[in-house]
Amino acid sequence: YVIGIDLGTSAVKTLLVSQAGEVVAEATKEYPLYHEHSGWSEQEPEDWVAGTLASLQELTAKSGVSADDIEGLSFSGQMHGLVLLDADNKPVRRAILWNDTRTTAQCREIERTLGEKLLSVTRNPALEGFTLPKLLWVREKEPEAFAKASRFVLPKDYVRYRLDGTIRMDLSDAAGTLMLDIAGKKWSEDVLAAFGISPDFCPPLVEAGAQTGTLLPEAAGAAGLAADTKVFAGGADNACGAIGSGILKPGVTLCSIGTSGVVLTYEPDASADYEGKVHFFNHGKENSFYAMGVTLAAGYSLSWFRNTFAKGESFEALTAGIADIKPGSNGLLFTPYIVGERTPHPDAVIRGSFIGMDGSHTRAHFTRAVMEGITFSLNESVALFRAAGKTVDKIVSIGGGAKNPVWLQMQADIFGAEVVALENEQGPGLGAAMLAAAGCGWFPSLDACADVFVKHAKSYLPSAESSAEYAKLFAIYQQVYGRTKELNE
Ligand code: XUL
Repeated sequence: YVIGIDLGTSAVKTLLVSQAGEVVAEATKEYPLYHEHSGWSEQEPEDWVAGTLASLQELTAKSGVSADDIEGLSFSGQMHGLVLLDADNKPVRRAILWNDTRTTAQCREIERTLGEKLLSVTRNPALEGFTLPKLLWVREKEPEAFAKASRFVLPKDYVRYRLDGTIRMDLSDAAGTLMLDIAGKKWSEDVLAAFGISPDFCPPLVEAGAQTGTLLPEAAGAAGLAADTKVFAGGADNACGAIGSGILKPGVTLCSIGTSGVVLTYEPDASADYEGKVHFFNHGKENSFYAMGVTLAAGYSLSWFRNTFAKGESFEALTAGIADIKPGSNGLLFTPYIVGERTPHPDAVIRGSFIGMDGSHTRAHFTRAVMEGITFSLNESVALFRAAGKTVDKIVSIGGGAKNPVWLQMQADIFGAEVVALENEQGPGLGAAMLAAAGCGWFPSLDACADVFVKHAKSYLPSAESSAEYAKLFAIYQQVYGRTKELNE
């Protein structure tokens, strides 16, 4: 057996996976988020460690599997979060997370200082969520805390340090710091020099599938595991989501609708140029990359709608009537910018809209319009990939958006592509387990592991009639951003 540890934003989820790729047990532990000021989002690194150990303990206890039969473990981590460590590797303050938006001024400073190097080296725009702006923020606003810091790591790297005692960062997670030379797979001397950051401040880089160590005896005891359990570096949650969905070669695109939504394509090398309009990161599979567009409020838009207008109801009850409503929700159109947007509009200020309301509209029309609006936003990323010459004709759909057959058909119709759901989908946690499975030598490659672990379920083909209707509406949807921008300026 191997274990995948998915260190998320609201909880850590662990999966125990057999050599056949079956998830035999899972356990989840939640931990708090701290929002001390508007736009701030922080977590206590110690909560991640305690949650991970408790989750592993529950997992091993409930599975009944002997600790000696568990060969290795690896991680999927929430990206970008800044964990500053002192000389004894103790955190100097709480971690500042990916969804914290306090760093707009630092982003503008990064753009001014790096100029065209920002895109040519880091391959990404300066966004509030990324790590470098957070580091500059702490240096400027909390000089005492910063003076204590000897190095920084990302969330899952800190947890791994507590499990095996090694300070390492894998390339897929380092890619989200804005300090990595993405194509060169090394810390960028240009970026570090431009901001006076010492190379010693950055941890040694490894591949996501590299073994970093074995469990420390104390951690093994607390987790209910054997001390010689192998520990593999692990990767960024989006990279692990891609691995766990089999996005390991050109030709298949991933659509993940969770709180936020992601459209992700495999890139065999670093040659594609999306001009910074989508994220471009190193993959968890060696020597490969992925490009990714993000819808900030995907599932979150539907949760907001339910919590506001159908409090206490399940998603099943909320969406019960949508199959009876035709594509287009009878003229009702929603834009999901309720917490701002990322792709294709990196805009923290824009807000969403319902337009085209009619006295005959019911709650089901609104529900369907919310789901269509979320999918239109994701289709903007699909359209960007296509405009750059990518073929997007087969999409693996995961997350909450893959639980509802009407939504899966809607995705096929709006994306104009075949949409495939997965059997027993486990997302990033399975990708983490696959890094451990390939690392333990069960398979010659991650691809070979995916052939066994990733199982396709039902496939949805676009209907010509619905696709044509949605294409018309998508053209209107695309105009709403520009026309409503001034409302929130
Ligand atoms: C990616 C991003 C999120 C986090 C969530 O750029 O900010 O998807 O990885 O953990």
